[in-house]
Amino acid sequence: MTISTLLRRLAVTAAALSGLVSAPVVLAAGPSVPLDTFPVTKVNDVAALQNGAKVFMNYCLGCHSISQVRYNKLRDLGLNEEQIKGNLILTQAKFGDPILTTLPLKGAKEWFGKTPPDLSLTARSRSSGAGTGGDWIYTYMRTYYEDSARPTGWNNKVYPAVGMPHVLWEVQKTLPKSDYDNLVADLTAFLVWVAEPVAQTRKQVGVWVLLFLALFFVFAWRLNAAFWKDIK
Ligand code: HEC
Repeated sequence: MTISTLLRRLAVTAAALSGLVSAPVVLAAGPSVPLDTFPVTKVNDVAALQNGAKVFMNYCLGCHSISQVRYNKLRDLGLNEEQIKGNLILTQAKFGDPILTTLPLKGAKEWFGKTPPDLSLTARSRSSGAGTGGDWIYTYMRTYYEDSARPTGWNNKVYPAVGMPHVLWEVQKTLPKSDYDNLVADLTAFLVWVAEPVAQTRKQVGVWVLLFLALFFVFAWRLNAAFWKDIK
């Protein structure tokens, strides 16, 4: 095979691969308004995650479950059992129970037109070509506007005709914009953590694996050289 044939084949393969990679992005239907970028470093910020958990328990758990996470998992956010029981378990749930809303599902559908979905994986399911699921939630919670044509009196820019009222409107009204943005960023960080609580561990293990491979490469390389040194 000549060099030019090889290069041509490589180019064709690369084009095919890039087609494969970009295809799902093109197909995923994104929201019509551009998304704001969620400050992603918050996901590594324990104080932000704790605050997000507090906001969630107080303002969201009334309607939404995050059934994939149990209360005792919140220890990964740097909290002990007493702190979790005292500040974050606001229902009758036990320490080992999944985080479930007490809202009766049947009534909810009648009241809001839609059952409030479980938010365990929303930070993943809402990702699209327009941004991450975190970007979507962050923008969604900051783009409510009053609309008398809607049964709840509220509408939303990234989720037109949404069934959920603006549950944080009083908070938004009393806080300066930057503080409200910050609170929503903490809440979003918590939901991103909820969608993959082991992400942190996975990344830390990944670093060690790469370090090991780098070290192993040096050993293998020198060992190979030693084995072959007398054979010319
Ligand atoms: C009064 C009940 C209620 C409360 C409280 C509530 N929600 Fe909702 N939420 C809903 C309903 C109902 C829907 C479904 C709306 C629809 O599909 O039209 C929804 C949908 C959502 C969605 C979109 C999910 C998706 O992918 O479609 C997100 C995200 C969300 N809520 C976040 C929150 C957060 C964060 C809080 C707390 C700050 C909260 N909700 C509090 C009722 C509620």
